[in-house]
Amino acid sequence: MMKNSMVFFNGDYLKKEDVRISPEDRGFLFGDGVYEVIKTYNGKMFEFEAHLSRLKNSLNGLEIQFEQFIELESICRNLLNKNELSDQDAAIYIEITRGVAKRSHCFPEEPVTPTVYMMANPCPSTRKEQEKGVKILFKPDIRWARCDIKSVALVPNVLATQQAKQKNAVETVFIRDGAVTEGASSNFFALLDNVLYTYPQSHYILSGITRKVVLELCPKIGIKVKEYPVLESHLDKADEMMIVSTINEIMPVIQYDDKKVGNATPGPVARKLQQALREKLSML
Ligand code: PDD
Repeated sequence: MMKNSMVFFNGDYLKKEDVRISPEDRGFLFGDGVYEVIKTYNGKMFEFEAHLSRLKNSLNGLEIQFEQFIELESICRNLLNKNELSDQDAAIYIEITRGVAKRSHCFPEEPVTPTVYMMANPCPSTRKEQEKGVKILFKPDIRWARCDIKSVALVPNVLATQQAKQKNAVETVFIRDGAVTEGASSNFFALLDNVLYTYPQSHYILSGITRKVVLELCPKIGIKVKEYPVLESHLDKADEMMIVSTINEIMPVIQYDDKKVGNATPGPVARKLQQALREKLSML
């Protein structure tokens, strides 16, 4: 972590250690807030509009009244400049909570101003892992049924990621009602009979920006893709698997639990998608 990094908090640019968050912030008390993580490549934001639109959906989902969307882009740019991140890869974090109010499970009686916290940090490349491929675990989806809202209430995701780490895996991917939904912080794709499948957009998954980009890239590069659930019982028939996210980009999965995927090396479809994404990024 950078020393003295400059962050944005409720209208001001401050040193991170100077931020004071109220113990009555509803984000702290209830996890009553939403967030976004945006990747920047050499100072250029990737899919900013898509992140903004998802942020609006998340805020609507929690009925948090926030209007200053127009300011967010310039705050992102200012954070990159202030932290000297304009010529490297970085990740911008945006969190908006319902604000500060006396603890009550109901929304505050009087309208309160949402708390806004934003930071930008260097984002180390995951290229090495993308070359080699990674291991994942599959576990039951113990999350709530509104995973389309990017809520900061992430305890199930935290527990699942820790379980993965303890088994030398990078991610836990969830299974609900016998079908693979998504990872703790990524979306999941599997190749069966030359068709790439991913769980349909619904309340059970986050509408991932990288997932959206993959769905757009596939037809352009001759990959058949379907938004259709992959059954747990079909996992052993998958020729390829990948997890995709802002940070992971397109990460081939070469092992799940104690089983190999294909011949335990990244497959041709993952390679093609990585290449297509890199070309898209080079045009930013
Ligand atoms: N996670 N599903 C979940 C549950 C996620 O938390 C994420 C992203 C994704 C992938 O979405 P995207 O392609 O827009 O990054 C899918 C972020 C990066 C995080 O929690 O840090």
